[in-house]
Amino acid sequence: MVTASEEYSFTSFSNLPFYTRVNARLLDLAEVGKQRKIVDLGCGTGGVTKLILERLQSVKDSVIYAIDHSASALKAAAEEIGDRRNATIKFVHSEVQNLTDAVRDRVDAIVYCNSIHYVPDKSRLLRQIKDKLTPNGIFAFNTSFFEGSQPPDTQEFFRKWMMRSLRILKRDHGLSVDKTSKVESRVQIRADQYRELVEEAGFEVQVNDLNRVEVPHEGWHHISGFSDWIEGVMPGIPLDKGREVLQKGLREIWDEMNLKTVPRVWLSVSASKPQFG
Ligand SMILES: C[S@@+](CC[C@H](N)C(=O)[O-])C[C@H]1O[C@@H](n2cnc3c(N)ncnc32)[C@H](O)[C@@H]1O
Repeated sequence: MVTASEEYSFTSFSNLPFYTRVNARLLDLAEVGKQRKIVDLGCGTGGVTKLILERLQSVKDSVIYAIDHSASALKAAAEEIGDRRNATIKFVHSEVQNLTDAVRDRVDAIVYCNSIHYVPDKSRLLRQIKDKLTPNGIFAFNTSFFEGSQPPDTQEFFRKWMMRSLRILKRDHGLSVDKTSKVESRVQIRADQYRELVEEAGFEVQVNDLNRVEVPHEGWHHISGFSDWIEGVMPGIPLDKGREVLQKGLREIWDEMNLKTVPRVWLSVSASKPQFG
């Protein structure tokens, strides 16, 4: 049986080839494959955990700590990975903000894919991440939710998509978005502010780059089925109706604008913990 939270999970988006490429590149930056102990922060339904696992084929006694605060996401990740494990995977049900207690071990690398924007006090978390790493250990994260992640030339697409979806919501369901029930919006910070925070926490930034990633129709389609996205763009609307109208609106606007892809900017950062410090 599919539970409500699994039905609106990140899985279908996470498994898309373009998204896998973005994360595989982050794992390259973090040199995943060389280390033995790795934390996958905000692992969700295990899309990135699987990629890490593939890279640890020949590493003896390797351990992955996969952490998420969603019990249903962890369950889905464990089922998805099944018996294909060559490394030990420890699924840890915890807020990432409790990293210090959630993982007792020191680790060689911590990767954090598309989740750092959820955490309000990033400085505190970054200090915990640094403490959890062995000297020369690597921290790598990416995000597509920061100020500047939505390229200006895509604004027309977004405006049309949202307007069309709202019209369909009204027409098909007699519903309107209740502006007062807007979820507390996550504060988006700029790419240079992320870099500053990482440096302030005592890391040496190795790579800090912005990439314009061409997202295909299926990317926008699947993200429209993810609860966080639906709640963000259609606050107060039941998830099933939000998903339905966003996907319908997307299809119509996509065809009318004759689009092939709509880009999004991804920030990727890789930083090392100094040997002494
Ligand atoms: C967009 S998904 C990314 C999942 C995975 N890293 C990937 O790229 O496929 C974000 C994940 O972060 C988790 N998450 C968000 N805030 C969290 C927190 N404070 N502590 C632990 N997990 C959190 C959510 O439950 C969700 O599974």
